[in-house]
Amino acid sequence: MRAPSLKAGLLAAATGLAALTLGPAPEAAPDNFDAVERGRYLVILGDCVACHMNPNGNHDGSQGFVGGRPIETPFGLIATPNITPDRGTGIGTWSADEFYRAMHEGIRPGGARLYPAFPYTYFTKMTRGDVDSIYAYLNTLEPVHNPVDRNTLPFPFNIRASMLAWNAMFFEPGEFRPDPNRSPEWNRGAYIVEGPAHCGACHTPKNMLGGDRNSEHFAGGPLQGWFAASITNDQRLGLGSWSIDEIVEYLKTGRNARSAASGPMAEVVEYSTGLMTDADLRAIAVYLKEPPQPAPASPARTPVAATDDRMKIGEAIYTDRCMACHTGGGQGVPNMFPRLAGSQVVQQEGSETVLRVVMQGVRAAYTPHAPTSPAMPAFAWRLNDDQVAAVTTYIRNAWGNAAPAVSPGDAAHMRRLLEDRP
Ligand code: HEC
Ligand code: HEC
Ligand code: HEC
Repeated sequence: MRAPSLKAGLLAAATGLAALTLGPAPEAAPDNFDAVERGRYLVILGDCVACHMNPNGNHDGSQGFVGGRPIETPFGLIATPNITPDRGTGIGTWSADEFYRAMHEGIRPGGARLYPAFPYTYFTKMTRGDVDSIYAYLNTLEPVHNPVDRNTLPFPFNIRASMLAWNAMFFEPGEFRPDPNRSPEWNRGAYIVEGPAHCGACHTPKNMLGGDRNSEHFAGGPLQGWFAASITNDQRLGLGSWSIDEIVEYLKTGRNARSAASGPMAEVVEYSTGLMTDADLRAIAVYLKEPPQPAPASPARTPVAATDDRMKIGEAIYTDRCMACHTGGGQGVPNMFPRLAGSQVVQQEGSETVLRVVMQGVRAAYTPHAPTSPAMPAFAWRLNDDQVAAVTTYIRNAWGNAAPAVSPGDAAHMRRLLEDRP
């Protein structure tokens, strides 16, 4: 790569560009300096590096766009392609129109269909000017020869033409249209969230064919062995009780007094939101707090009774193993040990994230804004499946929390998953 450290480049883009980022981009000639700088920032909004990096490259992302990282889909693994301007294995021979068609319609030069593991279903909302800027930026990268085997899905999903039917059912190409009745800030947030940042790709539950269940926009769902929490404005399970500042702090640093980002969200913070401008983070928060259609309220839940055996056993384990950090009453210590009482993550319908955090421990998100902080230790080797089930059932139902109980089978399932893919 030409840049010595891609992260340094991304950071420079994030710090130097505040002035350039409000409002839809004006048309920009591909070879102009502004377009390249704008493109450098847009790849942060689009989190392109998280998916298109070389999985064997350095952690600093200095092999940012050469591809090869396997992306998990419900149908199998797909490796990301090389999007450096290499003529043989990258996008070096693509025209700006061809690049736009891929981003806007999910169609490669020559007509082959791309899979929605590439979030073109969101990128379609981006303006032509923004896509051209990304094209201009990518073309300033050093071309790297890196062939990637891309056809790894099992039959029948390996037939790219099947995406024709999928698109007909689940995909509507079209650029974002601002709502004239809303503020420019709200519209900027809507553009980022629904377009480049593709938050719904993880936070909107999917149907059996991997299409978005739009009636449950942002309601959360299982994702690659995690549970992507609700980011609706719901009071109990979503961001209803979070302030704008708290949302901004979380997206910028990966933590706030309520929660800490882990797994796929830690990566989003590391490569994308943690490098966005404060103005853009605020715009995102403003939009999430005032969604276009209010989400249906989450169903009321009765907690598992305190007299239940699982709760009694869970409480004993909590006192013994967890209380030293998360404190009595699950209050936590702001910005050190997340609060578990009232926590949205802990009470999601699916228990995947809680199980995973307890069994595997957590690597905190790396961002330039948060100093190194304590880690959550792994308990998979210290607690058996019954004990894990009891303590997670307990934290999901103590202190006013309420969520479905976790079974020893759920814990066993997570244990197998962690053994297969540590
Ligand atoms: C969630 C993961 C993910 C993110 C984020 C992502 N991509 Fe991709 N991208 C993929 C996958 C997977 C494919 C391959 C799809 C296929 O083979 O059908 C792909 C394909 C592409 C292609 C087609 C290349 C070719 O040779 O067919 C382009 C161009 C591209 N991505 C550009 C981008 C840009 C620019 C961004 C950021 C704005 C981005 N991608 C963000 C996963 C991602
Ligand atoms: C690659 C998948 C992915 C993408 C893309 C993604 N998220 Fe997340 N997000 C997750 C997962 C998984 C969790 C739950 C794990 C955790 O809490 O750390 C999460 C958690 C969160 C939380 C914390 C919720 C809580 O109650 O603690 C917020 C807020 C959030 N995401 C906002 C966003 C926004 C805004 C975007 C778009 C800019 C986004 N996410 C994009 C996967 C994703
Ligand atoms: C040594 C201190 C320590 C101990 C002991 C500990 N934790 Fe944690 N826990 C943490 C830290 C630190 C985090 C935040 C990690 C991060 O940066 O993402 C965390 C995160 C969590 C989270 C995720 C919260 C969120 O909002 O994302 C859950 C759930 C959790 N711990 C449960 C437990 C349980 C259950 C136990 C006992 C079995 C336990 N912890 C023991 C330090 C600890």
